[in-house]
Formats: sequence, C-alpha cells, structure tokens
Amino acid sequence: MTITIVGHGYVGLVSACVFADFGNKVWVVGHTPEKLKRLKNGDPIIYEPGLAEMLQKNIKAKRLIFTDTYEKAVKDSEIVFITVGTPPKSDGSADLSAVFTVAKEIATHLAPRFTVVSCKSTVPVGTNIAVEKILNDNKPPGASIAVASCPEFLREGSAIQDTVSPDRVVIGSDSPEAIEKMLELHKSLPGKRVVTNLASAELIKYASNSILATKISFANLISFFCEKTGADVEEVLDAVGMDRRIGRTFMYAGVGYGGSCFPKDVQALTDTGKKLGVDVTLLKSVEDINQHARANFLANVLKKVKGKNIGILGLSFKPDTDDIRFAPSVYLVGELIKKGYKITAYDQAASENIRKIFGDKITLVDHAFDAVRGADALLVLTEWNEFKQIDLVKVKSLLNKPVLFDGRNIYDPVKMKEMGFEYFGIGRP
Ligand code: UDX
Repeated sequence: MTITIVGHGYVGLVSACVFADFGNKVWVVGHTPEKLKRLKNGDPIIYEPGLAEMLQKNIKAKRLIFTDTYEKAVKDSEIVFITVGTPPKSDGSADLSAVFTVAKEIATHLAPRFTVVSCKSTVPVGTNIAVEKILNDNKPPGASIAVASCPEFLREGSAIQDTVSPDRVVIGSDSPEAIEKMLELHKSLPGKRVVTNLASAELIKYASNSILATKISFANLISFFCEKTGADVEEVLDAVGMDRRIGRTFMYAGVGYGGSCFPKDVQALTDTGKKLGVDVTLLKSVEDINQHARANFLANVLKKVKGKNIGILGLSFKPDTDDIRFAPSVYLVGELIKKGYKITAYDQAASENIRKIFGDKITLVDHAFDAVRGADALLVLTEWNEFKQIDLVKVKSLLNKPVLFDGRNIYDPVKMKEMGFEYFGIGRP
C-alpha cells in the first residue's frame, strides 16, 4: 500500500519506518528543509534505539521518501496520516492549529478518488469531526474522504518495539471502507483489533495515558505516607501489586513523570472535562501530586545538602531518550541554579538539550564519574542502565560528601547505608 505521513516526530517517523519495513511505500511530508535533509541522509534527528538502522534500510530500499510538498505524496496515497504535534496551550488545552493547517493542505491535494485521512496525533474528542469538515470543505471535485482515528501508544526508548508489537490496534471510524483499509494496512502487526467510533478512539488514548499517570501519582502519594511513617514504598507497592487485579507495572514512585505525553495529555483531558461539565478533580490531583513529587524532592535536597556543589546523573525524562520535555531535571536544575548551587551533570543522550536551556549556567560532562567528583551531594534523576550498577565504591570516594539522593529508587537503601552513604530514596526509610 502507498501511504503518506505528515510529520516526522516520534510518532510520525517511527510509524513511517515500521510501515515501510513491512513493504509499504511511505511518503513523509515535513516543512523544515534542514531536518528533511538530515532525514534523507538517514539521520533520524531524534534519539531512539534502532531507528537509524531502520530508517537507512528503508531509504535504501526506496520505500521511504521524504518531501516538503504534499502534491505527489497525497495523490499517490490510499491513507494519509496526520502526526503533527498538539502541544499544550497556557490553559492546558491542546493546540490543534498544526492539525487543522495540515488537514487543509491535505484536502487541496487529494486525488479524485477515495482517500482515508487518519489522525495519529493525540487530539481531544471531536477533533476528527472538525478535520473531516475541513477536508470536505477544501477537497477538489471528484475526491472523497473518510476520517479514521488511529491513536499511537509508543513509548520513547522502546518506540519501535511498541509499534511493531502493539498490545492493541485501535481504529475509530464511521466509514466501513476506511476501517477496511486501515485493517489492511495494519494486518502484519500483532495485537488485538479494537474497531470503534471516532469519539471512543480519541478517548481511548487520553484514558490510557491518564490511567498510567494516575498509577504513577498514586505510587508517589503512597511514598509521601512512607516518608512520614517509616514504611518502605517499594515493599508496600510490591505487596499491593501482588494482587492480580492491581499489578505492579507503572506503579513506581520517583521524582515524577515527564515527557511529551503524560503531562500534556492529563492537562488536555482535564480541559476537555471542564468544557463538557465532567468533574475532573481526580485528574487535577494526578497533576498536583506529580508537581509535589519534584517539589518535595527539591525540599529534601535543600534541607539536607551542606555545600554548594551538586552532581547530577541523568537528565532525560526517562532512560533511552534524549528528550527533556517536562523532565523533572529541568525543574530541579532551574531551581537549584536560582538558589546559587553549582551543578555538574552527566547524561548519555540529553546533555545537548539541557545545554540549550541552561547554557553555561550548568557544567555538562562526558563521563558519569566527572559529575560525581567533588560534589557535596549526588542526585540520580533518570534510571539509565549505566547508573544501576555503577561502581559505588568509586562514587563514594569521588564525592566530597557521601550524600546521595536517589530520585528513581534504583539502589538498595540498606546496602547504601552499610557502605557509608547518607542515602535518601523516595519513600524509603
Ligand atoms: C507514554 C505512554 O507509555 C505511551 O503509551 C504513550 O503513547 C506516550 O506516553 P512515554 O512518555 O514515552 O510513553 O514514556 P513512559 O515510559 O510511559 O514514561 C513516562 C514517564 O513516567 C517517565 O518520566 C517515567 O520516568 C515516569 N514513570 C513511569 C514513573 O515515574 N513511574 C513509573 O512507574 C513509570
């Protein structure tokens, strides 16, 4: 099948590579010449394990074509995906301007036959109906369209695996012809098929991300109780998770969730709820607890650190990505700099992005031990594998004071204390 994907962020580029890898011809439309040039040369721009290889392989096979014009791509395609960003506005609602601009562009270039237009961007309930109207208002004579919502559930760091091996493929449309085409395109992927109406598909994405964020905030809430009572959040949640109705996945306490999805999607669902007159207290609490998790961590650091030199291991919002959007590190580094601390940090992928925000106000180093050396305290903010079994004897010897704040609970508090660290985990005695 020939398809077009408009947008080449995480969702667009990974989907394009995966569909091309299954033998489809995939046009990718972008509008930044410099980025398109890099993509055409096989540079994925974003950091995602395995993506560069897949990109290069499919460019070579001529199944992946990057362009800045809609004309050829849209006319050639049976399905056109919209995968542009929907960033949060200052009121928390999703900014849909890029989605609507792209819809209009697609409409004017439609071939005089049937085309499916599918939104993979995360969009509030009702957006696809608005997209459908834009397409119908602007399409040339002879062209017919149907819209389909096809939300994406990929995680950064494991985006290819999540796309190749999804738990479910959700297809929402009121058009049997569109559903048939979408099922055909996804036929090589495993996972359950959920065929539903547009509104359900749109809501499934927000509900999925919101329940995951809720689990994390619940874990953090319990960690606050642990901090006050001497209970150990890991033991508590291990035991809670043994109940098969609950489970342990995505119930890890820490400095809070970040990234391009949970913060924005919880806020956008809150905004939709307010507009619809749905009580969104639960969602607001999820967000508040997330903010409190990082603020509480900062308060503990400020209370316990003696000295002005702080080392940081991990800056990305999670391991295996260079993404720092809404990362707890950005808040913590910003606050610590404001308070006059000297920060030396190491991250194997995200340093360049942090440099863009803090410039020379932060020292970024190429090796973990260089962030540790001479620090009055060490903060671990991302659970990159390389920190899990780092030589802690060496870490202790390099630190000016053996004080360690473990924002992801990756070390054993008993062992750390035995080694002579002043160790502070999240909700751990
Ligand atoms: C998420 C969803 O998982 C994915 O399905 C969706 O399509 C996009 O949003 P992503 O943002 O890439 O993916 O990362 P994810 O692995 O979900 O982690 C999000 C944040 O939650 C990270 O900051 C992570 O550190 C944090 N987290 C996750 C916790 O604090 N505790 C946990 O138990 C799990």
